[in-house]
Amino acid sequence: MYLFKQKDELRHYLNTAKQQGATIGFVPTMGALHEGHLSLIRTAKAQTSLTVCSIFVNPTQFNDPADFEKYPITIEKDIQMLIAAGTDVLFLPAVAEMYPEGLSAPAPHYDFGALETVLEGAHRPGHFQGVGRIVHKLLDIVQPHKLFMGQKDLQQCLVVTRLLPLIDSPAEMVICPTLREPDGLAMSSRNMRLGPDERKNAVALYQALSYIKTGLAKGGSLPDILAAARLQLQSSKFEMDYLDVIAVKDDGIILSPEQAVTDLPMYAVVAARMKGSPVRLIDNMQM
Ligand code: PAF
Repeated sequence: MYLFKQKDELRHYLNTAKQQGATIGFVPTMGALHEGHLSLIRTAKAQTSLTVCSIFVNPTQFNDPADFEKYPITIEKDIQMLIAAGTDVLFLPAVAEMYPEGLSAPAPHYDFGALETVLEGAHRPGHFQGVGRIVHKLLDIVQPHKLFMGQKDLQQCLVVTRLLPLIDSPAEMVICPTLREPDGLAMSSRNMRLGPDERKNAVALYQALSYIKTGLAKGGSLPDILAAARLQLQSSKFEMDYLDVIAVKDDGIILSPEQAVTDLPMYAVVAARMKGSPVRLIDNMQM
């Protein structure tokens, strides 16, 4: 695996590879890698000939400074995992390499429409602008044929899908399924921050999503099912930012869809933290 810290060197290497016929698959990450990330690498390897992974904890997408400071960093282990998975290139830039203009310089504004005002958009102001800003910069450097991201961050996937035409990127977005622990908890770098009891209790998120899926499949009423699932989560010591069912349409999402729009793909989505815990977890499940 080649490791680049300078964007110009990476650009030059990838341009040469492309001239020789390589197709580039790109997996952007913030490190603290787990099996979920490795499954993105494996999918990229299966669909493109040269796999690039980036590790960069992007300061502009953290609306909560404490979350940024506590974001887990396990770089030595990450590098070993990426080598074992057969990654071709790792891009590991410093903050000054990605933001030579400085972090407080005026930033571009991306029009993500309603995606920015609901769910994660409503609860993490500025977060998706920061994601857009860094993904734009990374795509300018890597110029991949395909971009691989995890469905675990569903709304982020929708935001980036919308970003691509806004920045004239020809990259194809490939959304890959969420990987789960044996008990059902979605794999996430933030799980590393849970204490043993919190980790055990965290399965309640998966159980709530599964309950909604089963209830809807049996033809139950959406408001009743949602109310019961919210109660269930509260009794498992969770405080919710949201637990809802959404329908995904081309340019955004519809909250708590009526039966009339269920021809659109539907997902149960949740963001919550356990009482007293600083760790905010998100998950979703297609219905
Ligand atoms: O999902 C992530 O890890 C980050 O939001 C991303 C896409 C790498 C941008 O910093």
